[in-house]
Amino acid sequence: MKEFRKQAFLIGLTLIIIVILIVKVEWPTKRWFFITNDPCLVQCTTGVPCQYPDEFDFRIIVLTFNRPESLRKCLTHIAKLYTLGDRVSVDIWIDRSKDGEVDDSTVTVSREFQKNWTQGQVCVHIQQRNAYLIGQWIDTWRPRENSHEIALILEDDIDISPLTYKWLKLMNSKFRNVSDVGGYTLQMENVNYVKPNLRAVSNIPKTDNVFLYRLIGTWGYSPKPNEWRGFQDWFHEVRKDNTFKPYMPDLVINKWFTGFESHGTSDSMCSMWSTYYFNKSNLFTVYSNLKGYTGQDNMLLDINRMEPGLHYNGQSWITEDKSYLLLSVWNSELEKFPEYLPRYDFDGSFVNKIAENNNTYL
Ligand SMILES: *[C@@H]1O[C@H](CO)[C@@H](O)[C@H](O)[C@H]1NC(C)=O
Ligand SMILES: *[C@@H]1O[C@H](CO)[C@@H](O)[C@H](O)[C@H]1NC(C)=O
Ligand SMILES: *[C@@H]1O[C@H](CO)[C@@H](O)[C@H](O)[C@H]1NC(C)=O
Ligand SMILES: *[C@@H]1O[C@H](CO)[C@@H](O)[C@H](O)[C@H]1NC(C)=O
Repeated sequence: MKEFRKQAFLIGLTLIIIVILIVKVEWPTKRWFFITNDPCLVQCTTGVPCQYPDEFDFRIIVLTFNRPESLRKCLTHIAKLYTLGDRVSVDIWIDRSKDGEVDDSTVTVSREFQKNWTQGQVCVHIQQRNAYLIGQWIDTWRPRENSHEIALILEDDIDISPLTYKWLKLMNSKFRNVSDVGGYTLQMENVNYVKPNLRAVSNIPKTDNVFLYRLIGTWGYSPKPNEWRGFQDWFHEVRKDNTFKPYMPDLVINKWFTGFESHGTSDSMCSMWSTYYFNKSNLFTVYSNLKGYTGQDNMLLDINRMEPGLHYNGQSWITEDKSYLLLSVWNSELEKFPEYLPRYDFDGSFVNKIAENNNTYL
């Protein structure tokens, strides 16, 4: 009888220890058996496009890894955003290294911003394992079908204008239903990497506030929901076949891509895949022509600091703070669209002009 009690006691003790261990191990990640209302708690899996529980008017996706100071600068600019009284979410996605490590200082800066910013929701997401830039780009925003959420994907060395949301909202009101528009870009500098002697920007009439171009501008990119879903589905399908390559031999970016491939780092370049898919689907990207249109320099929608990291390993692109060039005053002139909007091909050549109100070609 005594033996039995001792055994029962030992079994009980072991069970209690097992329960404590499970709770301790599971608690930080799954929070099981605690009900939580934390809106930032999304159950997303690295490698699968992440759908958020809630829809916002504007969602900024910040992609970061281990550049806390660069991230801080980026967030400082987001902090100045005019949110126009709309619902905004900033989702900071922190990647892990190949060994599964998370950069603590990057987490600290993100959490600091979460406490600082009162204009909207801030969520900090840590990838479960190394997603690399391609996974960070493709799988951090899965919009619902026909969603009206406006998203902006930013790498952490991009500083945005406080009027970014106002501009994107205007573009959406104009192009939401235009079927050959796949997205919008804030990128205004260096729109020349196809053939430097055939810059698309040099062909744009100064009378136009925007133009449509084949190339996706990745320095601050806002994809349209359905088109981005289509891209995600296509990407995950073709990736099952590892002999498939999104080559586009005529483009300079193809040379960069094959260069990365020879170093085994082609997954740092999502734009080869997105450019391939968007061209295949006959989609254009809307670019602002505000500098040409207004003749003023302080019209940039964003600035890429090109900090050393996964893309660039040399000197930072911009050493002095050029934030004063960011668009900071709105003028109703900026809202005047031309009757016919020109489309430009990869090499900067004119494709056609379409009247947006009746779909007539010129
Ligand atoms: C948070 O606010 C403090 C005080 O204004 C500022 O020094 C800090 O840089 C901010 N941090 C972030 C990440 O926004
Ligand atoms: C787009 O189309 C929908 C459905 O036809 C319509 O309700 C909406 O007003 C249109 N939006 C714009 C910006 O033209
Ligand atoms: C874009 O797609 C079209 C149609 O699929 C194809 O003919 C063309 O070669 C592609 N452009 C480039 C630069 O690969
Ligand atoms: C289409 O719209 C354009 C621009 O407003 C106009 O000039 C043209 O006459 C219209 N065409 C038709 C067929 O309605």
